[in-house]
Amino acid sequence: MRLDYTSDLWWKNAVVYCLDVETYADSDGDGVGDFRGLIDRVDHLADLGVTCLWLMPFYPSPNRDDGYDISDYYGVDPRLGTLGDVVEFLRTAKDRGMRVIVDLVVNHTSDEHPWFTESRSSLEAARRDWYVWRPEPSDHPAGLAFPDKETSNWQRDRRTGEYYLHRFYRFQPDLNIANPAVRDEICKIAAFWLALGVSGFRMDAVPFLLELDGIREHMDGDPKRWLQSLRSFVGRRNGEAMLLGEVNAAMKDLSSYFGGADGDALNMQFAFLLNQSLWLSLARGEGEPLEQIISALPVVPHDNAWATFLRNHDELTLDQLTVSQREEVFAAFGPKPGMQLYGHGLRRRTAAMLGGDGPRLRMAWSLMFSLPGTPALFMGDEIGMGEQLRIPDRYAVRVPMQWSRGRNGGFSTAAAGDLVRPLAGGGFGPAAVNVADQRRDPGSLLRFLRRLIRVRRETPELGWGSSTLIETADPALFAHRVEWEGSTVIAIHNLAGRPATAELDLGPRADGVHDLLADAEEPARRGRLPVSLDAYGGRWLRVRRR
Ligand code: GLC
Repeated sequence: MRLDYTSDLWWKNAVVYCLDVETYADSDGDGVGDFRGLIDRVDHLADLGVTCLWLMPFYPSPNRDDGYDISDYYGVDPRLGTLGDVVEFLRTAKDRGMRVIVDLVVNHTSDEHPWFTESRSSLEAARRDWYVWRPEPSDHPAGLAFPDKETSNWQRDRRTGEYYLHRFYRFQPDLNIANPAVRDEICKIAAFWLALGVSGFRMDAVPFLLELDGIREHMDGDPKRWLQSLRSFVGRRNGEAMLLGEVNAAMKDLSSYFGGADGDALNMQFAFLLNQSLWLSLARGEGEPLEQIISALPVVPHDNAWATFLRNHDELTLDQLTVSQREEVFAAFGPKPGMQLYGHGLRRRTAAMLGGDGPRLRMAWSLMFSLPGTPALFMGDEIGMGEQLRIPDRYAVRVPMQWSRGRNGGFSTAAAGDLVRPLAGGGFGPAAVNVADQRRDPGSLLRFLRRLIRVRRETPELGWGSSTLIETADPALFAHRVEWEGSTVIAIHNLAGRPATAELDLGPRADGVHDLLADAEEPARRGRLPVSLDAYGGRWLRVRRR
């Protein structure tokens, strides 16, 4: 293995951790998390072993979509800190060996952004065409992001009587990327944060950003070409800059977001299709849905990667499953109507859906970490936090971090009523689930994930190698083999709540395996290895050759 390869294209062997500064740690007792609080907790993250922190939006915002409605791209929400605090945080994270990426939300701005105030003021306004205006509404683009709140993607503005495009809420007008001045401004925003020390961006809503409906007549060529130029621009400003796109799109389109075979557009994309099939596999206790999707996914170019995940900060979207498949996942993991959202998603967290800490939850993590790509976690997953269904909408999963059993779970010293968001409840509240207790307990989920992260980092084959599926007789099993630089790793997981067995063919000259998670050696007989897995068991095996 050539381990030196893994540091230039660092994202291919990274472990990403998403966090929201607002709900992470409150240093001044006002009930809102802040950069000083995050800095104080940076050693928790370093100790966990994650290598890349993704910060959700922390910019000035009216906060009607949790900061995804930005009113100034060059600042910091004053409740969270200052630009100076951001720089101190970036420096501290770097000191602990962690890179930081930030959310780049440029499909739309807040309707309170000064650009929009100017744009809407008159038909002749200087920034009129920074947004997408029409004299009449349209049925295009089709589909609504928030069908419970919006009925159209076009909103009439009384000042001029025209309609503006908003792919998300009506208070989030879409920027017009057909306008070269808007594209230049997006580069400038990226350049600004790169200059402060970030290593790249999680790009919000990429398919909507590049969508031509409403602006087709104004744009020369394919907007994906522009994605390629953005990628080369960020690369010129900072050689290690990486673009990780939120792309929940149809299978046939995914490759183009990487830039086709050249891979010169997004470095990484979140693997939404893989994620949806993973949950279907977990619901059924069978490997088949995962096998099917993995065989169908496009080949990832050499420098690029999928970002794999179990859950993120949004609803668990199941929009690309069939209705009956979606019903299976709902029945298994979110049967109550209050757990469901938009008819296609679940507003629950991983640990709560999988019944809390136990073999099934641990298997799901081990399986996800072994899939081709770079694993990403959501804050609090490392201790198995649950949701708070009393909080409306997608916010149910964005509860404050639980540091201890103490007041407000150690998140803040404010009065409970002053917290930015209520804490998780029931069996998943801070009394049962918190960092301090799990640090002390060698059998805790935190210790398990710490070990899994370490072993994943020491197994670059999983992020770099080419993988092939292994057929097994038992449908409960999912097994695959990854080859990289002459090394072979086989991962096998049992998705069912009963024991299962398989016999693995390790290939020529194999005389045994190193069981990576158990850190134990096991001999093979004539290149074959019988494997018995407990209910929800899993193993990662590096093949030893003579
Ligand atoms: C993305 C974000 C989501 C946000 C939306 C609009 O989907 O993940 O949280 O509401 O974009 O910016």
